[in-house]
Amino acid sequence: MSDLGFVHRFEPATPEGSKETLLLLHGTGGNENDLLSIGRAVAPGAALLAPRGKVLEHGMPRYFRRLAEGVFDLEDLKARSFELADFVARAAGHYAFDPERVLAVGFSNGANIAGAVMLLRPRCLAGAILLRPMVPFTPEKLPSLAGTRVLVAAGRSDPVVAASQSEELAALLRSAGSDVTLHWSPGGHTLDRSDLAAATAWWRAVPAK
Ligand code: MLT
Repeated sequence: MSDLGFVHRFEPATPEGSKETLLLLHGTGGNENDLLSIGRAVAPGAALLAPRGKVLEHGMPRYFRRLAEGVFDLEDLKARSFELADFVARAAGHYAFDPERVLAVGFSNGANIAGAVMLLRPRCLAGAILLRPMVPFTPEKLPSLAGTRVLVAAGRSDPVVAASQSEELAALLRSAGSDVTLHWSPGGHTLDRSDLAAATAWWRAVPAK
């Protein structure tokens, strides 16, 4: 679908499924289909909303511009974060899901914009599973993320994200009041079984309110 401002996929919740909606955000070069199977595995029966990033880097979709690997165009990042948050609100009205129960599942570039949305529009996401995220930017003033929950899934041998970045992000979100779990997998900048197991266990450990 290409309406509501983003090319996207939406799968409604099943009647017995979770009341949460997962916002699935792919990595650089990915698309709206990439994380559907992870979403279904983590939260069976939950609604899934998967927009495709609109910024093209040598033809590869992303959610915001970067100047180099790990060096973000902060103006674009912020504008795109608000645009994505507005899309989620519009989609909630259109598909009739609860806007207060949206959790992001983002990988790499998708995790980075999910983190930015939490910092810039703290009411947009009730939580997030951030797979190989960086610190998107350091806010001058911390928002209140009380009541949100976040899983930061980092890779011990990630060549793109230094371990200190993962720790810094976890600390930043914690200091804003979020309930943060930091999970280390032995792998690099790709997902492995340990990430899926951690995400599934994290999801199950915090039942929906
Ligand atoms: C980013 O640009 O968000 C990060 O460098 C991760 C990536 O997309 O490779």
